[in-house]
Amino acid sequence: MITKKTFITLLLLVSANSTFAETPASLVSGYAAEAAKTSPGFTPSAKRGQSLFTNEWGVSQKMPNCTTCHGKNIKAEGKHVVTEKRIAPFSPAANPERFSSAAKVEKWFKRNCTEVVGRECTAAEKADFIQFITQGG
Ligand code: HEC
Repeated sequence: MITKKTFITLLLLVSANSTFAETPASLVSGYAAEAAKTSPGFTPSAKRGQSLFTNEWGVSQKMPNCTTCHGKNIKAEGKHVVTEKRIAPFSPAANPERFSSAAKVEKWFKRNCTEVVGRECTAAEKADFIQFITQGG
């Protein structure tokens, strides 16, 4: 028998879950599962993620790659190339708030990939990228 109190506790758990549930690992597996739909057997690669991060895309002169704003050292602060505002370190080891919200991650992948890469990043690239940021750096 579910009491009213249990019910409310469950509701709170469910809503807390949907807002804060993501971890870098859960995001990597989510994107990897998405990528596997079109490339069966897909496995995230920190090495490919690193080249996404450092590749000179040549699309935007002002921001040729991700390190333009995030810096080369993912454990250190970056600086926005246009606004000059500080950007907290990319590595979750240095910044526990990293990769904890799917909505935030999606919003910034969309904006930054479009500007730097010239198109949206694929699910495979996102899985590789977060794998690199959390394990390869
Ligand atoms: C013009 C500056 C700029 C460039 C270039 C840039 N970013 Fe960002 N990025 C930001 C800012 C600002 C934020 C939001 C502030 C924060 O999360 O610290 C952000 C946040 C993110 C996040 C969200 C992380 C989280 O914790 O949820 C991801 C993912 C991301 N960027 C990926 C990339 C990738 C991939 C590239 C290269 C293709 C890139 N960024 C290039 C400025 C930039």
